[in-house]
Amino acid sequence: MELTKRPRRLRMDGRVRDMIRETRISKKSLIYPIFVEEGENIIREIAEMPGQKRYSPDTLPYALEEAAGAGVQSIMFFGVPKHKDECGSQAYDPHGIIQETMRIAKKEVPELLYIGDVCMCEYTSHGHCGIIKGDSVDNDKTLPLLAKTAVSQVEAGADMVAPSDMMDGRIGVIRRALDEAGYIDTPIMSYAAKYASAFYGPFRNAAGSDNFKGNRKTYQMDWHNRREALKEVDMDLEEGADIIMVKPALSYLDIIRETRDRSPVPVAAYSVSGEYAMIKAAGARGLIDEKAVIAETATSIYRAGAELLITYFAKEIAEMIDEGRIG
Ligand code: PBG
Repeated sequence: MELTKRPRRLRMDGRVRDMIRETRISKKSLIYPIFVEEGENIIREIAEMPGQKRYSPDTLPYALEEAAGAGVQSIMFFGVPKHKDECGSQAYDPHGIIQETMRIAKKEVPELLYIGDVCMCEYTSHGHCGIIKGDSVDNDKTLPLLAKTAVSQVEAGADMVAPSDMMDGRIGVIRRALDEAGYIDTPIMSYAAKYASAFYGPFRNAAGSDNFKGNRKTYQMDWHNRREALKEVDMDLEEGADIIMVKPALSYLDIIRETRDRSPVPVAAYSVSGEYAMIKAAGARGLIDEKAVIAETATSIYRAGAELLITYFAKEIAEMIDEGRIG
């Protein structure tokens, strides 16, 4: 047989396969989301997300040490307050759950990078991501509260803020507020293309934000749309986003790729709670090889163009990088 091209040549030796991998994953690019709950002495299993827990600020340092020990460098916090009200006041209270958590985390485990989720849905009695007007969320009334939330998180020590509310114009408003408060060097990671996804289901139980009526379709994006994501990305870049995020990840690899191709800033992808729950459920039933699927799906998100990955599997992925299974 006269074959000049034999792609299998590069697959024959494991060392050569490792040598020519096109996608490399660094532990430094992983971001681990953690839920923190107001109270004391809490370590609560999250039923919908086996393996994930809700911590109170006093028990949290243990989880942080564990993540740091696995080589994860960045943490994103979601807060679960005791009291909710119409205007989500615990989101921007200087002594709110996220703010207190930031203070403790920075003091106890200062080597990690802490990112605050900026949104109102965990803090409002109606469960929506902003101030309610009629059947919808009032965009412009919500903006100043998001800005206040971001500033209060940074005052408490956040190294970066990540607005996930999907209100129009929020990146610009938050940027100005941070600058005016003197935080000119604090980056904003924008949930730029965030879809109204059913994959957030387990998170809403985990974060206690599953109490809302209706849906989030008046602010999160319709998943039929691709070009609209690029519009959102362009707007957020214009308004000063430092990092752009696409969310969810697995059903949105095309959006990640296109965002990466046109974005001058780093691109993050959020592999959300439903993606996690599906893999855990199938793994627990022995239907798939859980670790292998974690490795393959995470790699596919990077291959699509993500440079940062927000994932509940951050510790497992870090361990697999150490083992040489991925990256
Ligand atoms: C909103 C927010 C959500 C998630 C992150 N931030 C839920 C929503 O928009 O309803 C979902 C993350 C996940 O599913 O893992 N603050």
